Amino acid sequence: MDKETILKEFQDTMRHIAAAVYAITTVHDGERFGIVATAFSSLSFDPPSILICVNQDTSIHQPLMQAERFCVNVLGAGNRDVADCFMKTKGDERFGVGEWTEEFGMPVLASAQSTLICRTADRHRFGTHTVFIGEIINANHRDNAKPLTYYDRRYIDISQAPDQVSS
Ligand SMILES: Cc1cc2nc3c(=O)[nH]c(=O)nc-3n(C[C@H](O)[C@H](O)[C@H](O)COP(=O)(O)O)c2cc1C
Repeated sequence: MDKETILKEFQDTMRHIAAAVYAITTVHDGERFGIVATAFSSLSFDPPSILICVNQDTSIHQPLMQAERFCVNVLGAGNRDVADCFMKTKGDERFGVGEWTEEFGMPVLASAQSTLICRTADRHRFGTHTVFIGEIINANHRDNAKPLTYYDRRYIDISQAPDQVSS
């Protein structure tokens, strides 16, 4: 299979995997940074750890390379406005929507479904991205939320997922 076909099939595959949406945040030199991300995975229960994959071209990448901590805010369906604000704005303006508090020096979204504050345990560059491994140092889960879900380049109500994919 040629490289272009592999890439297209790969992108189509990823587009049709429903994914929870996260606001990854950190602080570097007193400045807050954040991006919307779907590339998150639980990694290990001992130690409790997760990983995220961040494009090296994003504004949060360099701060994450230097910061000792980051926060994974698991967005609920009610946090759509936060995701939209992150995509429409830059820098600290991204924190203009939603109630942002601070825990362990990290920006935490009070209304998020869950928040995981992590100590950066490892970083691994691969291709266009860097994998950041985070050891969880503080976790909060609120059980009153439906996850914000991204599928086929849009946010969907997961209880109404379509039977067929669009082409
Ligand atoms: C639903 C969704 C999921 C995304 N997932 C990721 C991701 O996992 N990793 C990543 O690096 N960028 C991801 N992005 C792209 C970043 O959010 C976007 O490139 C970033 O905000 C722009 O970079 P900037 O901070 O330099 O403006 C995603 C965007 C959307 C809308």
